[in-house]
Amino acid sequence: MKRMLIGALLALIAITLAEESTPALATDPVLVGAGDISTCANTNDSDTELLLDSIAGTVFTLGDNAYETGSTTEYNSCYEPTWGQHKVRTKPSPGNHEYYTTSPSPAAGYYGYFGAAAGDPSKGYYSYDAGAWHVIVINTNDSCNIISCAAGSAQEQWLRADLAANRTTCTLAYWHHPRFSSSSVHGSQAYMQPIWQALYDFGADVVLSGHTHNYERFAKQTPAGVADPVRGIREFVVGTGGRSHYAIIPTPIANSEVQNDDTYGVLKLSLHASSYDWEFVPVAGGAFTDTGSDTCFAGPHEVGGLTELATGAGQRSFELAWFVAAAGLVVVVAVSLLMARRRTG
Ligand SMILES: [Fe+2]
Repeated sequence: MKRMLIGALLALIAITLAEESTPALATDPVLVGAGDISTCANTNDSDTELLLDSIAGTVFTLGDNAYETGSTTEYNSCYEPTWGQHKVRTKPSPGNHEYYTTSPSPAAGYYGYFGAAAGDPSKGYYSYDAGAWHVIVINTNDSCNIISCAAGSAQEQWLRADLAANRTTCTLAYWHHPRFSSSSVHGSQAYMQPIWQALYDFGADVVLSGHTHNYERFAKQTPAGVADPVRGIREFVVGTGGRSHYAIIPTPIANSEVQNDDTYGVLKLSLHASSYDWEFVPVAGGAFTDTGSDTCFAGPHEVGGLTELATGAGQRSFELAWFVAAAGLVVVVAVSLLMARRRTG
């Protein structure tokens, strides 16, 4: 037993060190996109679409992709000529406006336009991999009133199972309604806290949202909004696809690091093996930008000691969960080793 634990300790340290020393490569995958995008009432989405033309990678949409109701006609007439030119590389998420189409089925225009890329129309949540990253799309529909985001809901349970099955160092999730926002319109959506909690429990790194028509970057924080620079989640609000602008309140909320409410554009994320770079790219003539880098939370999952994974005839298997970086890892596992020695000695 003692040898097994020492072996596990060495393996975990080796994994951690390998992740920390992996260099960023120019060929690493890119995610690029925004939310609150196309309306036939203006041409701002043409300006943001021009940015996509010169940025390779997977395009994400953060909902309210086609105003006013995400109808088939609006997708074909307003979205298709602009962002629709990148449809084959788009991984979409729906917003409340998509769900204003109720017939013949909820958000029928959205699911009909994107087809299989939007996932099961009765769910609208799905996940995929981008290089070393696991990427999760949550469906917040009409403020989660049609498909729930609550703790214990089918979507939240699916999220926890998906996270458990994909324990990557780096994890990103995106959806429409922001848990945190300093926007004068809409603002923070507390009903997103259970989704944040699941992501936080499994050590996720980045959340992207729209709905508020502005740009905002937050410091890493807990689901309750407490600063947590070690294992917190960093949120970006990117409601800058072209629909309109909402003003940021005079005193932004806690942990808000950067805000802009007058520039359309897209967020580009370069996803490295254990880190990422962000860049807000403004439309032509726009002066605002925001760039930076951060590392992923290396400790993967739920905080707290030994978890039994399975028990069979004469065989029991466990997983050691660890806290944070290498230093924390050594401390936590060393305690486990001492306890095992006393029991077996
Ligand atoms: Fe919205």
